[in-house]
Amino acid sequence: MEGIHKVNTKCNLFLIGFMGSGKTTVANYLKETYRMDMVEMDLVISKREGKSISDIFALHGEEYFRGLETALLEEIQKKSGVVVSCGGGVPMRSVNVDAMGKSGRIVFLRASPETIYERVKDSHDRPLLEGNKNVAYISELLEKRREKYEAAADIFIETDGKKVSEIGEEIMHSLWALEHKNKNDNDGRI
Ligand code: S3P
Repeated sequence: MEGIHKVNTKCNLFLIGFMGSGKTTVANYLKETYRMDMVEMDLVISKREGKSISDIFALHGEEYFRGLETALLEEIQKKSGVVVSCGGGVPMRSVNVDAMGKSGRIVFLRASPETIYERVKDSHDRPLLEGNKNVAYISELLEKRREKYEAAADIFIETDGKKVSEIGEEIMHSLWALEHKNKNDNDGRI
């Protein structure tokens, strides 16, 4: 499949959002359609540690896991043209937001608590949701995190009820518009 948007895919693209907001599915679409490299942060961390994310949390604690996320982002910062499916907690640390902003654009995939619940209800690889898989808990945690997601993002995408291809193309269109705007702003500068 060929992407319809002509954008600069040299910069990195960081997909952020709550667990189950579709980051990995959309990252795969962009990888296939725009021939970008892709990093799924949880997958890389899990492979390197030789353990599931749940086991990393259980054996070493959440702070250890957060340290691995920050170290991985520092590595990614040196690359270009990579679409990154970030773990849902990544934008909670300002050092992570700085690292992402230095090498790319940050895209916030929004989804309602109901949609998120439907997507996560049968999975068991998200330690923060084990024993808490209900719409009320998801809403509460999402509210606590919303400000940080919004402050980090360059681009906001509503995902409820949309196909992955629509979301992917909306991202590329927004990226194109942002680049265009920046170019025009710069051209007008004296
Ligand atoms: C987390 C999200 C998970 C994973 C870990 C913690 C979070 O990733 O990194 O369970 O704090 O929101 P996904 O957003 O890919 O599920």
